[in-house]
Order: sequence, then structure tokens, then C-alpha cells
Amino acid sequence: MKVVETCAEMAALCREVDRPLGLVPTMGALHDGHLSLVQQARADNSTLAASIFVNPTQFGPHEDFARYPRSLERDLESLEAEGTDLVFVPPPHEVYPEGFDTWIEPGAVAEGMEGAARPGHFRGVATVVAKLFTITRPDRAYFGQKDGQQVAVIRKMNEDLNLGAEVVTMPTIREPDGLALSSRNAYLSPEEREAAPAVYRALCAAEDVWRRGERDAGRIQRAAHNILGRETLIGAVDYVGIVDADTMRPLATTHEGRPVMIAAAVQLGTVRLIDNVVLG
Ligand code: PAJ
Repeated sequence: MKVVETCAEMAALCREVDRPLGLVPTMGALHDGHLSLVQQARADNSTLAASIFVNPTQFGPHEDFARYPRSLERDLESLEAEGTDLVFVPPPHEVYPEGFDTWIEPGAVAEGMEGAARPGHFRGVATVVAKLFTITRPDRAYFGQKDGQQVAVIRKMNEDLNLGAEVVTMPTIREPDGLALSSRNAYLSPEEREAAPAVYRALCAAEDVWRRGERDAGRIQRAAHNILGRETLIGAVDYVGIVDADTMRPLATTHEGRPVMIAAAVQLGTVRLIDNVVLG
């Protein structure tokens, strides 16, 4: 496994390696959710590249960039054990040199939910992913459904800007009690950790009323809010969104034959948790 720190060397190596090349972009603090992407990318491609970069431009000024968990040594061991060929671990000034001033601005797909709650977040995500795609020219790039709106933003950018990767979406990996794996779960106190599965339970309750025939988004949302409201440790519910799974457009009623995403973001102590399920 080769660990690469500069854009120039990474680009040069990616031009020489056997194709297809699969890319797994991450911010490190790797868990089994990340590793499921790595394993699929390993199985699908001749060359496996991963990146570890805690991207400062996708964090808001009052978010957790400084305290985002970092565990580079352990991450490199995990990636090596999975058969990764290339790991890109650039320092911030490699990705954003002095004077960097060009941005990818996603459109309507990034407006609601996470885009509304975290202004500028998807601009930072899209810009760094575009740079990673340009440096590595992946044949396939792997993302988790856990961040459902992020995948939609990246798919749209890949299509609109002819970036030429096949974007592969992988299912959300969960703890046995339903909590979606996330690097941020490490910040939960034991009591908060116990309350956290309520997010997935709420999404499942919403899915359940939908399965029983409810098509009105307001009533489907209410099923989720009822569960979240019962969990006293859960503070603000940022949103429960019922959206078209491709465009992220909010729906008043769910239509037959179109996949629907139900997504939620809640504040639990100092931790913001997001999760989603896709119906149909
Ligand atoms: P990060 O949060 O490290 O996640 C890296 C990838 O792992 C993302 O595609 C994310 O959706 C996926 N992932 C996280 N938890 C998962 C889970 N429980 N099950 C399945 N997949 C999971 O997402 C980012 O980094 C960044 O925004 C990035 C795309 C790297 C751009 O900076």
C-alpha cells in the first residue's frame, strides 16, 4: 500500500495503475461503514484507492472540525488489511493552497435538509469530491446511503459536469440496535448512546405507516416525530424530510413507482445525528 501526500504524485500514480480504479473518499476515523465501501471497491476494481482528508471547507464556523476524530495510524492499518493500493492523505494546504478561490456550487438538490441546516456544507463537499475525482480519475467512486443527500449531490455533480465516474451507493451499516455507524457516535455519553437508536426507530415507524398505505407526507412525518418526541434526551429535531430519493425535492404526497427518502437530523447532547431510509 502506498501512502501519498501530494496531489501531483497521486495524479501521476493514478495515471499508471491498472484500471478500473475504484475510489473511496473518507474523512478517516474509519469504522465498518467505511470498510463496507472499501470492500466493495476492492471486489469491483483492479486498483483500490482511498482518501483520508478532514475537509475544512465542509464544516461551518461553529461545527466540530477541530474536534473531529482523527486516527490515522489505525485507519492506515485497516485500509492495508482490506488490500488498498493507494491512500491519499494530503495536508490541508495541498488541497487548498494559498489563494484557492474556485468552488463547485450544487443547485436545488443541496437546498433542503442538510443544505438548509448547514449553509455551505455541500459546496465544500462537492468541491473536495470534484478535486478528488480530477486527481484520481476514478472509474468508480463509492459513497454510503447513510449520507443520502450527499450521494444525491455527488451524483448530480458527476452527471452535470461530465466527471465520468460511476457513482456506487452502498447501504447503511448499523449497530445491532439500529444506530447507523458514524464517526461522531464516539462523542455520545452512555445515556445518549442508549437514546440514539430512537432516530432509526422513528424512520422505521414512518416507513411502517407508509407500508400500511399512508401517502400523505405530513402524516408520515408525524409518525417519526411521535417517536423522537418521546426521547427526552433528544433536543431539537432539525427536520424529518420526505423527499424524492433522486432529486431531494420535498414531497407532499409520495407517488407510486418513485423512490422516496425519509431523512432525519436530530441534536442529541452535543452530537448531531443524521439517518435516512429509502422506500419503494
Ligand atoms: P465520511 O463521513 O468519512 O464518510 C465517508 C463515506 O462513508 C461516505 O460516503 C459516507 O456516506 C460513508 N459512510 C459513513 N457511515 C456509513 C455507514 N454507517 N454505512 C455506510 N456508509 C457509511 O462523507 C464524508 O466522509 C465526506 O463528506 C467526504 C465524502 C469524504 C467528502 O469530504
